[in-house]
This record gives sequence, structure tokens and C-alpha cells, in this order.
Amino acid sequence: MQIGPLTKAFVHDLSAIEGWLYDDNVYVTAAIMDAIGNAGVRGPNFEIGVYCGKYLAAMHHCASLYHETPLTVGLDAYLFHGKSEQDARNTWVRLFGSTDGLHIQRGNSLTTSSSEIIEWCSGARPAFISIDGDHAVQPVLSDHVLCAELLARGGVIASDDFCNWRMIGLMEGIARFFLMNNRHRIVPFAFCMHKLYSCHADFHDRYMNALIAWCDANPDLAPPSDSSNCAKRRASPPPARRFSAGRASSSKYRDRPCR
Ligand SMILES: C[S@@+](CC[C@H](N)C(=O)[O-])C[C@H]1O[C@@H](n2cnc3c(N)ncnc32)[C@H](O)[C@@H]1O
Repeated sequence: MQIGPLTKAFVHDLSAIEGWLYDDNVYVTAAIMDAIGNAGVRGPNFEIGVYCGKYLAAMHHCASLYHETPLTVGLDAYLFHGKSEQDARNTWVRLFGSTDGLHIQRGNSLTTSSSEIIEWCSGARPAFISIDGDHAVQPVLSDHVLCAELLARGGVIASDDFCNWRMIGLMEGIARFFLMNNRHRIVPFAFCMHKLYSCHADFHDRYMNALIAWCDANPDLAPPSDSSNCAKRRASPPPARRFSAGRASSSKYRDRPCR
């Protein structure tokens, strides 16, 4: 599966939207949507922590192009910078021409039940979920337990800010989820920039292999290599890989690009 020009143009347009997202996460999300479709998994997109809808719009674009025409549902308590539901709606109009396919809900994920979310999703379990709300230990754990409960069989969860060492509490919350509260057997299969992507254990190999094949098919998306300077490369540590797919293995509020 190759990333097409429409997605590269979309990434360019997305740079005008306020929020926190690396371009590479859009490309990886496209690859995951393609793999979800190939696995025969169906369902809407859902995100906790929308802000202006930057990643939510990327999820919507990727599902439309590589999976199925989606319903995309966002939940936000709107605690930051005076943003509101209207900001996500404005993003939709700017990028897609209308608010079709968008359902934005104001609310606190910590007091929201899975049945309420399924109702907003027109009765379906979400096939792709992004968790990017409160970053403290207990809320992160609670959001992961809620989303694991919600997830369609064979769906994917993206956990934001994994391995962002300024977010120690978030790392603890995610660890507590995987080690102690994981009754649906959710396991990570890929990691890109600050996002960790996970699925049900029996889908792990399928998704990991799809992502490895996708990396091979899209060499133009790899970090630039300095092959003309081998001596220098040997003398210095290898460049950080931006993407990895595997068994267990990408500041937000200050130093992530705010485009
Ligand atoms: C980092 S921003 C989300 C960024 C967004 N995903 C993007 O693509 O730019 C975090 C958002 O989570 C929301 N939030 C924080 N705690 C929440 C909670 N308990 N329930 C719902 N939303 C919450 C905040 O209001 C804020 O808009």
C-alpha cells in the first residue's frame, strides 16, 4: 500500500490547523486504516481529546481514503485555550468542505460510559480510537480501560505521548493499563514519533507485518540518509528511527510543533 498524492496534499493543508501532530503519524494512520480494512474490521473513529480536531481530521481523511467512509466522533472537556466544539467544526469545513461525518461531544471522559460513546457512534464499536485527553496517571489508565472496553474486535488504539519523558505520569498510566488492567489483551504493534499503536493480541502479527511491508513500499517517507558521509555516520550514533513495528515496542504542551 502506497501513500498517494491526496494524503501528501492533505498533510500540507493540515499544517494550517492548530494542534499537536507529526506528519508521520498521518502516514502511519493511513497504513493502519488500510490494514484494518484488509482485516475486514468495520467501525467509526473515536478520539478522547480533540482540541481543534487536528488528529481527528487526519483519522477521518485516512479512513475515507484507505478504509471506508467514516463517522468520526470526538469527545473533549474543552479545558485548553478557550477552544470549543466550533473549532473542530471549523477544521472540518476548512479541510472537507462541510461537517459531514463529524460528531463532536463536549464532556469529561472520566465520567463517560462506553454505552454513551457507542450511542454517539450510531450504535457501532469504533475501529480506530485515539487517546489524547488528560495526561495524568489515573485519567490515562481510566481512558485506556474505557477504550479497550469500546474497541471493535480487531480495531486499533493510538496512545498519544508514549515515550515523551516529560509525561512520566502518562507513561505510568499506560504501563498500569498494559500490565494490570488489560482484560481484553491489547498489545502494542507499532510506534511512531509520540504515538503507540495497539490492537487485540490475536491481530498483532497481521498489523505488525502490514506496517513493515508498508515501510518497505514507501521509501520516500523514510528519514533522509546521509550515504555520502559514511565515515561521519560510523563515528556518530545511528540516527533515531522515526517508526518501528514490533512486539513491545514517538513537550507536548510546550515543545511539540504547534502547526
Ligand atoms: C493535547 S490536546 C488534544 C490534541 C488533539 N488530539 C490534536 O490533534 O491536536 C488535549 C485535549 O484533551 C482535553 N481533555 C483533557 N482532559 C479531558 C477529559 N478528562 N475528558 C475529555 N477531554 C479532556 C483538553 O480539553 C484538550 O483539548
